[in-house]
Amino acid sequence: MSNHESSYVPKTRIEKWFDERLPLPRMVHSSFIDFPTPRNLNYMWTFGGILSFMLVVQIISGITLAMHYVPNDKMAFDSVEAIRRDVNFGWLLRNIHAVGASMFFLAVYLHIARGLYYGSYKAPREILWILGVIIFLLMMATGFMGYTLPWGQMSFWGVTVITNLFSAIPIVGESVVKWLWGGYSVSGVTLNRFFSLHYLLPFVLVGVVALHVWALHHVGQNNPTGIEIQTKSDSVPMGPYALMKDAYALFGFLLLYAWFVFFAPDYLGHADNYIEANPLSTPPHIVPEWYFLPFYAILRAIPSKLGGVIAMFASIVVLVFIPWLDTSRVKSAKYRPMFKYFLWAFFFTVIALGYLGGKPAEGTYVMWARIFTAYYFAFFLIIMPIVGLIETPLNLPRSITEAVLGKGGGALPGTVATAQAEKR
Ligand code: HEM
Repeated sequence: MSNHESSYVPKTRIEKWFDERLPLPRMVHSSFIDFPTPRNLNYMWTFGGILSFMLVVQIISGITLAMHYVPNDKMAFDSVEAIRRDVNFGWLLRNIHAVGASMFFLAVYLHIARGLYYGSYKAPREILWILGVIIFLLMMATGFMGYTLPWGQMSFWGVTVITNLFSAIPIVGESVVKWLWGGYSVSGVTLNRFFSLHYLLPFVLVGVVALHVWALHHVGQNNPTGIEIQTKSDSVPMGPYALMKDAYALFGFLLLYAWFVFFAPDYLGHADNYIEANPLSTPPHIVPEWYFLPFYAILRAIPSKLGGVIAMFASIVVLVFIPWLDTSRVKSAKYRPMFKYFLWAFFFTVIALGYLGGKPAEGTYVMWARIFTAYYFAFFLIIMPIVGLIETPLNLPRSITEAVLGKGGGALPGTVATAQAEKR
């Protein structure tokens, strides 16, 4: 996978025999133990590991739930209730999966924010970043279809609203919607196909995540300085250093996850989803899950239906182009005095849009949603290209080692670090 030397030495005869035929343990050792990680990584670099863990949790809990769930419009709602009440530890399984979706999105938003702050999308990590955007889209599709499955009021009406959006596409729109529904309205047929796809997509995700991690191991990790690894003293082996940090962060993340699972499993969901789907009664206020709210706000901010749909999709697709929209030669926002403030304003904008997406689309809420939507796009399309050209970045340290230990490596005279610093 990666280009560094491997320190793997098979210890037993069986290991040696295996290594000569299929060097899989060598590959794993090289990728996850020997892999050189920058010595200055902070906790924002632990979310990739947390996300990998969450993907496994969602797949295992999802497969087990599917053993009891019935993807039929007459039985789906009751089967979820039966899982919660009658299946041994079914309540736990369901909470792990439903809260898990929220925790997965929380982690992915922090992972993306880290990438934006430290410029991890810039060369040579463009493909790694674009694979990330594909992962994000797949996660959204999976989450959206998963929310349909309990067949509550919000499931049903959420799907109805979102799938209806496709009817805004000129000429083919109506046919696309019928094709998605498998009929003339959202029905058991829709539920069944969404279940099938909800089961399939996580495995597609696993494949794209494997490519993502492969690309990462090929180009190496970015770090808070945005300067690449130059000498051996700039990095430490992934095992045990980065792995221990990942494990520690995962533990903290699991505490929060467990708190929701055991004490507030429904806090992140909507109460109306405990009312069985009823096509004849529309809830007064249809809202998607919290993690879709910023995009829902963008959708509703645009007065035309087609315009709203285009803006909503564009707000994610624009991410693909940021490696080229950002014209700065410095990666990390830490050294970009002007860009940093625009970026924090962008983070605030996304949170504000999230808040507005959960409010009714009327009065001042719509006005604010329009202002924040304008800033969302201006940030990528105007601010990123221009600020990169006009801003004077702060002085960068000469190396990662210097950033950590100061000039001269901060080491005692006569040590290796000092000799390396002097050589530079
Ligand atoms: C299932 C979802 C995902 C998984 C399992 C995953 C996994 C990982 C892992 C293990 C790493 C290395 C550790 C780290 O830097 O935290 C990583 C790095 C990275 N990921 Fe992801 N990722 C996911 C989603 C995304 C998304 C949605 C994006 C962007 C849109 C993204 C962009 C990146 C970038 C740019 C890096 C390199 C960061 C750096 O070295 O500074 N990832 N990812």
